[in-house]
Amino acid sequence: MIKIKIFIDSGKLDEIKKAKEYGILDGVTTNPSLVKASVEEEKSMDIDIKSYINKILTVARGVPVSLEVIGNTYEDMLEQGKLLYKMFNPVAGNVYVKIPVNPCFKKNSSNSFDGIKVIKALSGIGIPVNCTLIFTPEQALLAAKVGARIVSPFVGRIDDYIRLKNNIKASKYSYYPSKGLEKEGMVLEDNGIVSGVELVAQIRKVFNNYKILDTKILAASIRNPRQVREVALAGADIATLPLSVIDKLLVHCKTQEGVKKFTEDIVPEYKKLFGI
Ligand code: E4P
Repeated sequence: MIKIKIFIDSGKLDEIKKAKEYGILDGVTTNPSLVKASVEEEKSMDIDIKSYINKILTVARGVPVSLEVIGNTYEDMLEQGKLLYKMFNPVAGNVYVKIPVNPCFKKNSSNSFDGIKVIKALSGIGIPVNCTLIFTPEQALLAAKVGARIVSPFVGRIDDYIRLKNNIKASKYSYYPSKGLEKEGMVLEDNGIVSGVELVAQIRKVFNNYKILDTKILAASIRNPRQVREVALAGADIATLPLSVIDKLLVHCKTQEGVKKFTEDIVPEYKKLFGI
């Protein structure tokens, strides 16, 4: 049966435990910023990062956990990817190594293909890779071509970027229309992409065109429940969500109102059935 998988986007053990208890957890994604947030929170406890990650992997046993490298060159990322896998996969057999599609942060760097080369090398020795920081379908296509098991388009960050380029102020968590925003009669876009959800839809189309089945599309950087619905409609295989978004997924005022009314209408005869 095909169904969208729900991952939690968090490095916090208590949040991962909570999502697991909900019974809907299919995986965990972390990144250096999420690890930073958990380390800062646990500072008073003088966190030992190795045993903390071991705990995360153990809690998430049976579902994949993505751990990201921190290097920016082929050599560093390859070494770190192997190290992360060797150090942590024995804990619960659920490690995916996260590699940026292009590790360069300076303009005109000559090593823009280092991420792709590392994905090819790690995949070639059986280490599953989640290729991260995807902002175009062509990045996703190349990552899939060299064996990435997951590609992660950053939905919310595309929307943020389109807003920023057009001086539109809005809360980070507010809804951004999947069909794009209009300004002065034009639909705003980045490089032909009108929204993060549309980026996912375009990657889905490209992967369908070429029957790419072994690389899953993971919608990352999700900011609100409506985006979860829209990436599901766009054909994402996985959505990774912060706990704050997971917690909002079932909320609807009419559901609450209905439960309240049903509770008020319980007659003693019906209660007796349950021994109350
Ligand atoms: C997960 O794989 C990504 O690193 C994460 O979703 C990024 O989310 P953000 O854009 O909210 O930081």
